[in-house]
Amino acid sequence: HQFTVNTKPGAPVQSTMYGIFFEDINFGADGGLYAEMVENRSFEFPDRLMGWGTFGNVTVSDVKPAFDRNPHYVTLESAGHHQKVTGLENRGFFGMGLKKDMTYDFTVYARLHNLQGKEAKIRVEIVDDQDVPIDRKSITIGNNKWQKYTVQLKSNKTVAKGLMRIFLESAEAVDLDHVSLFPGDNWNGLRADLVKDLEDLHPGIFRFPGGCIVEGTDLETRYQWKHSVGAAEDRPLNENRWNYTFPHRLYPNYYQTYGLGFYEYFLLAEKIGAEPLPVLSCGLACQYQNGDNDKNAHVAVDDLQTYIDDALDLIEFANGDVTTKWGKLRADMGHPKPFNLKQIGIGNEQWGPMYPERLKPFVEQIRAKYPNIKICGSSGPTAGGKDFDYGWQEMRKLNVDLVDEHYYCPPGWFLKNAGRYDNYDRKGPKVFAGEYASHVAGKDGEPTVAKNNWEAALSEAAFMTGLERNADVVWQCTYAPLFAHVDGWQWRPDLIWFDNLKSVRSVNWYVQMLYGTYKGTNVLQLTENGKPVEGEDGLYASAVYDKPTKKFIVKIANASDQPKQVVLNFKGAKNLATAQVISLHADDKQATNSLEQPNNVVPKESELQANGSNLTLTIPAQTFQVVRL
Ligand code: AHR
Repeated sequence: HQFTVNTKPGAPVQSTMYGIFFEDINFGADGGLYAEMVENRSFEFPDRLMGWGTFGNVTVSDVKPAFDRNPHYVTLESAGHHQKVTGLENRGFFGMGLKKDMTYDFTVYARLHNLQGKEAKIRVEIVDDQDVPIDRKSITIGNNKWQKYTVQLKSNKTVAKGLMRIFLESAEAVDLDHVSLFPGDNWNGLRADLVKDLEDLHPGIFRFPGGCIVEGTDLETRYQWKHSVGAAEDRPLNENRWNYTFPHRLYPNYYQTYGLGFYEYFLLAEKIGAEPLPVLSCGLACQYQNGDNDKNAHVAVDDLQTYIDDALDLIEFANGDVTTKWGKLRADMGHPKPFNLKQIGIGNEQWGPMYPERLKPFVEQIRAKYPNIKICGSSGPTAGGKDFDYGWQEMRKLNVDLVDEHYYCPPGWFLKNAGRYDNYDRKGPKVFAGEYASHVAGKDGEPTVAKNNWEAALSEAAFMTGLERNADVVWQCTYAPLFAHVDGWQWRPDLIWFDNLKSVRSVNWYVQMLYGTYKGTNVLQLTENGKPVEGEDGLYASAVYDKPTKKFIVKIANASDQPKQVVLNFKGAKNLATAQVISLHADDKQATNSLEQPNNVVPKESELQANGSNLTLTIPAQTFQVVRL
């Protein structure tokens, strides 16, 4: 094969081109990225003691609460006999992961239960999986007003499924609320290892907080960003959209504490160097269908103002100065500097006329108040069977800036669609491939229980050459979903899997990382016999130039079962020297990375010598390569 690379830099590759999409699905936030180890810390789950074991004399109350929006708390009173104990235990999310030599920050809000009480005492312990206490601390409570108490515990061993216990140590009764335990190495309340997994992708865009959870099962349970800011203790609980969904995986205990809220999302975007892209409800509940209980499923167009205000206020929260109401809240929370929000999404995966008629007033009011903010609309549900013509027509009429397309499809679809954007309209809105993943059909036929494996990852790598080639119209793309807890997932494949101690980067993660790391700054035209390389003989290729490093970068996927020899001719280039070749390959299409074998499929680097303006490569079967020179 002879590939010609035109070395004249073409369309810019947007800094937002490759990014991440976060949703609290598969225990991605509570129980995942959000490092809180206590489940139901505020006793607000519908069954107030869900997640808690109790012994002795424990009752729940909401009289004179510590927090208005999270009013329930527990009272621990004497068990009534000197040989009996009162207390609580919490096993966290599928057991508490405890690490050797790690400190754990325990906090609790407490007061004496009796107004005339003198002094109460509690003892907190972290406990291993054999029921042996690892460390313990006592706390004395001498106040009949709510007060925050903090102690540190330390683990002298690593335990996969530990727990925490609290005992009443006095005859005097005590009220407790917001019982919390964080590992000492957390980053702003987030799990440091998972933050690193995101940072290492070099993402340019960060879409949050969903997905379906933006919309909620009904309007009441939609994600409300205003509930997710301010003191974490007073952010009201919300049912997760993924609570009790999908019959093969039932998690009745799936709620959002909003501990990971919009402020934390913005901070995270800043930390990982990605542009934030918040998505808000457009006034339609998720995947509503005729026949569902339509109570609370959609807001009348004339009643949308609260929803539109949420969008306008969010822009003020992110960008307003400290004299504005919402800008002040951001500053009070610790970030006086604006977050420099540039775009906002309204609605997720909506279809049919109900969506554009609701989006219209959002567009009008956002444009009027914030003309520089880009608006991201949606083209409808997953492509594959159907395509997005109706959605796109409507988005063009509304003149949104970007259109969010989703596709969860088999590997064959990804291979066939590498040329998908070659003929897209260049004048209208830009493309945001906001959710995609290659799904190798699961054993039970469910589309959402496919596995992360090399067959899927290679088809994504091949498809992404088409995104890159069309970077003049494709401005951003994000794989989905991002995270999954090995003990608590509803949907797979997912980019990063974790348990309570560690995480694993899937084979798909490495594809995303290679694109994100080597995204370049300008598209270079790459052709074979004058045509784009998008599947002929199993080969897929694209090229970019990177201005800061002055490097040509070529990405080639060989999805065939034969090695292929390719000569790359860089038209007009002279004296090309050593090329760096980064290869991602597995002999077995089923190959996967796991917590036990995290490095089964990882990139390997080698060098090749170019000859003048040519570089000759042999690309092994079933391989993705990034070539830099
Ligand atoms: O990524 C999982 C779900 O897929 C998202 O919540 C939704 O947007 C899509 O249907």
